[in-house]
Parts: sequence; structure tokens; C-alpha cells
Amino acid sequence: MNVIADPALQALLSDLQAQSAAQEAETTRYFAERAKKGDLSWDGLDEGANRFMADKMVALEPAKAEFCWLLCRALRARRVVEVGTSFGVSTLYLADAVRANGGGTVIGTEYEPAKAAAARAHFDAAGLSPFIDLREGDLRQTLKVIDGPVDFVLMDIWTEMARPAVELVAPHLRPGATIVTDNTAQFRHAYRHFFEFVEDPKNGFTTQTLPFQGGLEVTVKI
Ligand SMILES: C[S@@+](CC[C@H](N)C(=O)[O-])C[C@H]1O[C@@H](n2cnc3c(N)ncnc32)[C@H](O)[C@@H]1O
Repeated sequence: MNVIADPALQALLSDLQAQSAAQEAETTRYFAERAKKGDLSWDGLDEGANRFMADKMVALEPAKAEFCWLLCRALRARRVVEVGTSFGVSTLYLADAVRANGGGTVIGTEYEPAKAAAARAHFDAAGLSPFIDLREGDLRQTLKVIDGPVDFVLMDIWTEMARPAVELVAPHLRPGATIVTDNTAQFRHAYRHFFEFVEDPKNGFTTQTLPFQGGLEVTVKI
């Protein structure tokens, strides 16, 4: 069963997911070659890697995106933060869930202008723009202001950005708010600063890695 009820949105998502999947082999090859040369650091993408990724969609896989939709519905989420928007694929799932919950806002974040423009076109095509506040620029600036309690966070970002992002969002999380972070088993070392934060008892989280491909972290504000 597809969680998305709107057939036009389903069709748009299938099309975008297919475009993203078609880019995957090239991306895997690029990073494998860089790793083989030993010049890759997971503590930050360098200029070459950033340039390579500037037009890559890297959309959240459908099963993970549907899981986020379900969590948003279970939490009755009205305010969502999406850390890493790209072409807006996961944003569409989140905004559809927020609309079904009675309305609210998905705050998106993207620093590549061309990706942000493409995302906005997809939001318009889906009729979901009224539920999305896409903030263009570096998330370390754009997430400095968040109004009101946050119910759900999707962390789908270059790993080194997860710690600064969670630090900015944490003060706004309501009890029971849930953060989903992608690929935490695959990139456990690169996510170490994020884990230091969510595993520190004084920050009030509990967290578990679910066995989706690459590992999907579900972190709950207690
Ligand atoms: C994995 S992709 C997001 C995919 C998206 N969630 C989806 O499912 O379609 C991560 C995105 O974060 C963006 N990004 C990386 N670092 C950023 C930063 N410091 N501020 C804002 N956006 C950033 C990248 O340009 C990239 O498009």
C-alpha cells in the first residue's frame, strides 16, 4: 500500500525517485574512486565533491520516505524541519503528511540555488507550496530562527552538518518529537559528533538505529 493517496503526487514522486535512482551509479563510482585514491574525508565534502554533488538529487529512498510520512501522521506533526531538501522529494512526503494532519509547515533547507529552484517547481506542481517554507542558504544560518515547537525532523544531509543542525533544532523540540537521520549505520564514524550530542544524557534523547538500508536512526526527545 502506498501511503500517498493523491495519484498525481504519487506519479510525480515515482518520476523523481526514478530520476534520482538513475544518478546513483555515477555517484557511487565517484566516491569509490575518490576513496581508492585515499583523498576523501567524511569530515566535510571538499570543493570537488561539492561541485560533483551540486546537481545530484540523492533523494531519500521510497521506503524511508514513507516511514517518515507515517511517523508524521502518528505524531500529528504540524511543524517539521527538513535538514537537506535537494530537489524536494522527501519534502513532498512530509508536506503531504502535514496537510493531512490539518495543515502546518515543513521548513526545508538547501544551499544550492538550482536545487532550490527545482524543488520549488515540484512543490508548486504538487500544490504543496502553502505547506513549505524553503530556506535557501547554509542551514547554520537559515535554521537560526525557528518559531514554535517542532514535532518532527528529517536529517538527510551531508554527515558533518548533522551536529550543527541538531544543536539548532534541539531547543525547539517538543517532548516526543522525533528525529530521523539517514544512513547512520553506513556512516557511523562520520556521524560521531551527532551521536555525541544525542547520546549525552543531559540533552534528553533516546535513539535507535533501524535496519533500513544503510541504517535509519530514530531519535526521540524524551
Ligand atoms: C541528501 S540531500 C537531500 C535529499 C532530500 N532530502 C530528498 O529526499 O530529496 C542533501 C542536500 O543538502 C544540501 N546541503 C548540504 N549541506 C548544506 C548546508 N550546509 N546548508 C544547506 N543545505 C545543504 C545539499 O546540497 C543536498 O542537496
